[in-house]
Amino acid sequence: MSDVVIVGSGVVGTATGKGLASAGHAVTFVDINPQRLEELRAEGYEATDRIELSEEPTIVFLVLPTPSGPTGYDLSALTAGVSNVGAALGRSSGFHTVVLRSTTPPGTCDDVIRPILEATSGKTEGEGFALASNPEFLRAATALEDFLSPAMTVIGSRSTLTVQRLVELFRPFGGPVRTFSTTAEAELVKCAHNLFNAAKISFWNELWLVAEHLGFNGDEVAATVAISSEGSTNPQYGIRGGAPYGGACLPKDTVGFLGFAREIGVDMPLLSAVIEVNRTMAHRVRVELAEVTDHVEELLGPDSEALVSERPSDH
Ligand SMILES: NC(=O)c1ccc[n+]([C@@H]2O[C@H](COP(=O)([O-])OP(=O)(O)OC[C@H]3O[C@@H](n4cnc5c(N)ncnc54)[C@H](O)[C@@H]3O)[C@@H](O)[C@H]2O)c1
Repeated sequence: MSDVVIVGSGVVGTATGKGLASAGHAVTFVDINPQRLEELRAEGYEATDRIELSEEPTIVFLVLPTPSGPTGYDLSALTAGVSNVGAALGRSSGFHTVVLRSTTPPGTCDDVIRPILEATSGKTEGEGFALASNPEFLRAATALEDFLSPAMTVIGSRSTLTVQRLVELFRPFGGPVRTFSTTAEAELVKCAHNLFNAAKISFWNELWLVAEHLGFNGDEVAATVAISSEGSTNPQYGIRGGAPYGGACLPKDTVGFLGFAREIGVDMPLLSAVIEVNRTMAHRVRVELAEVTDHVEELLGPDSEALVSERPSDH
């Protein structure tokens, strides 16, 4: 069983800490909100506003808020909490593992958190402490249930030993586990997961507006498409990068439907962007091919937008 410190005891931190405590780990919650601490103490948990690390190897989860600011992510609460963790690392002679669980842009662990931890602790990652990314995929409404039965566990660290320790920590909860040798890849997975979900929701809202305009129930249309749209979830079909869509149908149907939507007076900015992204990708593939062969026109034909990158889902 491990010693665990949760820094940031909100929705995700509480679910993480309670879930790990239920598996027998010794959990201490840390937060700056006195009311939060009182609530946790009333439930029988250790809760404090000051991080102290014993000499026992401890897993410190950073579960601090990462809201968006005017120009991107606002990481100020995260960096403030990380400085306190670094100071605690500096006061302890134990070897501890710091795990970033907040959602952050790729590179935050390496480029923001590591330098702060090293500066405030006087220790070096790898020698004085370990660092990993372990983003959370739970839903706020069912936070603890989702933690106890995770859809997926993602772990990134340059230290294979640290990855193994975290895999063992989460093993009792089950679910698929994906590991990466960099923290940034794990951070990117979490961001991409949320962006994909947002894009999917916006796509169906855009279609819902068209259906509403035509007097149909958009939700019934969506539910029916979901039956056939293997390409939207199967990694072998719709989900892969590096090539535009092509084939006989997708290029014509995207452009054709955009024209139809304009005619009926429904704006489809997402569909416009889809067509634009595909043009950019087709151009990129043409340029890459031109670097390795003089026979691009023979291979692709004169029109890069008609580039055929047959996928099983390109109907
Ligand atoms: N809420 C979700 O459903 C969800 C799901 C997955 C990932 N996430 C991500 O997890 C992270 C945490 O989100 P949340 O919803 O748990 O946030 P939250 O606002 O519920 O909790 C954050 C906690 O951190 C505390 N805090 C702030 N500064 C602190 C500091 N310096 N030291 C100690 N504690 C401090 C706050 O008082 C608060 O209790 C975010 O990056 C979020 O994007 C959230």
